[in-house]
This record gives sequence, structure tokens and C-alpha cells, in this order.
Amino acid sequence: MANILVTGGAGFIGSHTCAALLEKGHDIVVVDNFSNSKPEALKRIKTITGKDFKFYELDILDFDALDKVFKENKIDAVIHFAGLKAVGESVQKPLEYYHNNITGTLMLIKAMRENGCKKIVFSSSATVYGVDNPVPYVETMPTHTATNPYGYTKVMIEQILTDVSVSDSEWSVALLRYFNPIGAHKSGLLGEDPNGIPNNLFPYIAQVASGKREFLGVYGNDYDTPDGTGVRDYIHVMDLADGHLCAVDYVLAHTGVEAVNLGTGKGSSVFDVLHAFEKACGKELPYKILPRRAGDIAWCYANTDKAKELFNWQAKYDLDEMAADGWNFTKKNPNGL
Ligand code: NAD
Ligand code: WQD
Repeated sequence: MANILVTGGAGFIGSHTCAALLEKGHDIVVVDNFSNSKPEALKRIKTITGKDFKFYELDILDFDALDKVFKENKIDAVIHFAGLKAVGESVQKPLEYYHNNITGTLMLIKAMRENGCKKIVFSSSATVYGVDNPVPYVETMPTHTATNPYGYTKVMIEQILTDVSVSDSEWSVALLRYFNPIGAHKSGLLGEDPNGIPNNLFPYIAQVASGKREFLGVYGNDYDTPDGTGVRDYIHVMDLADGHLCAVDYVLAHTGVEAVNLGTGKGSSVFDVLHAFEKACGKELPYKILPRRAGDIAWCYANTDKAKELFNWQAKYDLDEMAADGWNFTKKNPNGL
């Protein structure tokens, strides 16, 4: 078992992955600055697993603080979740996004290199496939047409980590391209808890179901898809967490760089997600058709062959279970974490 540094471990995907790592028997050290999360998530990881771990409240832009973490702990590998992720906000605040995500990653890699830790699993995104590639997305496709600064931070960090790996063959890098993570921990203790008005479909629907929002605005029903709404590859956050366990095993045992899609390989429309949530919460949820959202594409889903071959990993949960677990979290936490 290994000692894993988790950056952004208090966040949505990070918290579920921390619980999975501890349950598998790994030790973890978590760093976060709570810019988009709450300390309560860390308490709940401890409640779920019955295990304790070290936590440092720090900003990954702070090299000295990161360096101290490596000096005080023997870290075998890093899972790097910390980053800003709101697409619309990244268009308004490109400098903040480039600085936080790219400079933050540079500081992290520098601290890793100086302390002899050269194994990293990075949170990339399906957004790197941009607008020109046909679905299903395959890892070998070109990835240079992101549509917003957030997406470009992922494209650039993938390039930086690839270049580092080329420059020094001791590095081992997994670039995990997540599709659309939704759902929540089975316990109902962890889930997605966005600040303000949710940008993403699933947490928005959850807030309509809990009565916080009046109706779901459906961004366009005139796409070239079966019901006219956008199709995405929704993946249960616990499946995603499980994918990280495989990626950690992989980087511990190999060197080099691999990009790997983490999705289900199945596309679901906005109405499919809405209906699954209605089934979970047992009531009809109001919606209105609105104009298309700028930057959206009609289709996005993964080819999942590489994850199966390289990690022997495959998503297990279907949309109904994602909705049921998401609703369980919403019901149990009406005011979030
Ligand atoms: P999140 O916002 O819930 O988690 C990110 C965490 O990083 C938060 O706890 C935040 O406080 C922390 N953080 C941000 N900047 C930091 C900094 N400078 N120093 C220290 N901590 C910092 O987001 P998430 O949904 O859990 O996403 C995790 C990662 O996965 C992100 O890199 C995101 O871009 C990527 N990703 C997310 C999705 C998605 O739909 N949720 C999809 C693809 C990729
Ligand atoms: C899904 C579908 C919307 C909200 C984003 C990022 C991507 C990745 C995952 C980080 C689309 C429709 C949405 C609403 C709606 N994140 N929708 N009403 O856009 O696929 O991906 O999150 O890497 O980079 O772009 O996810 O949940 O915002 O939208 O009709 O209120 O739901 O148009 O078809 P998206 P999403």
C-alpha cells in the first residue's frame, strides 16, 4: 500500500477518491485551500472510513508550503485534483484560471521533482477533445481545440506533463480524461455541493427537486440528437474514484505517460437525466426550453477501450443509480455539506 498526496481532496471528486483510497488501505495526505469546498467534507471522509489522515490547508501556488509537505511525508504518488473548473467563469477570468491551474501545477511538479516523487495522476477532462473530433472520443485524437480558458488549462497541463515525462524517463504520468461525473457516495455523506447557482446539469436538477430552483432550463432542443437535447457521457463519481485506484496502481508500476478516458461509453440526453432524477425522487420536475448555451456541443461520449485494457477498469453504475445516489445526498443534506 502507498502514501498518496491528494491535492483538492476536499472537493467533489477528490473527497470520493480519498474515501476510496483509504478503504483500499492506502494512506493519504490531503491539501486544499477550500476555495471551492468545505472542511466538513474531510470530516465525513473520516466518518465513512473510520480512518484518520494528515491535512494541510494550503494553496498549491505556494511552493514553500508544498515543499514542506513533501519534506514532512514520504509521498509515493500524487493525485492532482486541485484546480478551478467553472467554464463560464474561466471566460470572464482567464488570468485567474491560467494562474491557478497552470502555475499551481508547475509549483506542484517542481516540488515533486525536488523531492524525488515522480508519479502523478492528473484530473484532465473530455473538454480537451474540443469541437472538431467525432464521437466516440479516442485518446489518440488531436486535442488542441478547447473552446474556453478552462479547457485550455487542461490541454496545456497535459502538454506540460508530457514534456516533463519525455525529459526524464523516471516520471510516470496518467492523464485521466473525465467525462461528466455525477451522483454521490452511497452513504449520502459526500456529494456535489456547488456554491451559488449550479453551472452543471445534475446539481441544477437536484436543486429543482429539492425546491431550491423553480425549473430546469434546458439549453436547446434542436440539436441533431434523438430528442434534440445535448448528449453526454455521465459517470458515477464512485466509478470515477475507482478509476483513480487503478490509475495509482498503474503509475506506481510503470513509467511514461498515458492519457485515459474515464467514461461509461454511453450517451444520455438532458431529458434522460431529468427523467432518471424524476424516477429517483418520485415526482415530476418542471423544465423550460431555453436557447442553446454558448460553447455547447451536441454529442460527447467516450471510447472506453483503453481504460479496460490498461487498467482493467470499467464503469459499473447506470444512470438510474447515479440519480438515486444523487437524490439520496440531496435529501440528506438540504443545505449542502
Ligand atoms: P472541486 O472544485 O469540487 O474540487 C477542486 C478542489 O481543489 C476544491 O476543493 C478546491 O478548493 C481545490 N483547489 C482549487 N484551487 C486550489 C489551489 N490553488 N490550492 C489548493 N486547493 C485548490 O472540483 P471537482 O469537480 O472535484 O474536480 C476536480 C478536478 O477534476 C478539477 O481539476 C477539475 O477541473 C477536474 N474535472 C472535473 C470535472 C467535473 O465535471 N466535475 C470534469 C472533468 C475534470
Ligand atoms: C450537460 C448538458 C447542457 C445545465 C462541463 C464542462 C466539462 C466538464 C464537465 C470539467 C449539456 C445541458 C446544463 C442546465 C442544461 N467539466 N444543461 N441546463 O457542459 O457537458 O461539461 O462539465 O472538465 O469541461 O464543460 O456539462 O452539466 O454543464 O451540461 O440543459 O442548467 O446539460 O447544455 O447539454 P458539460 P453540463
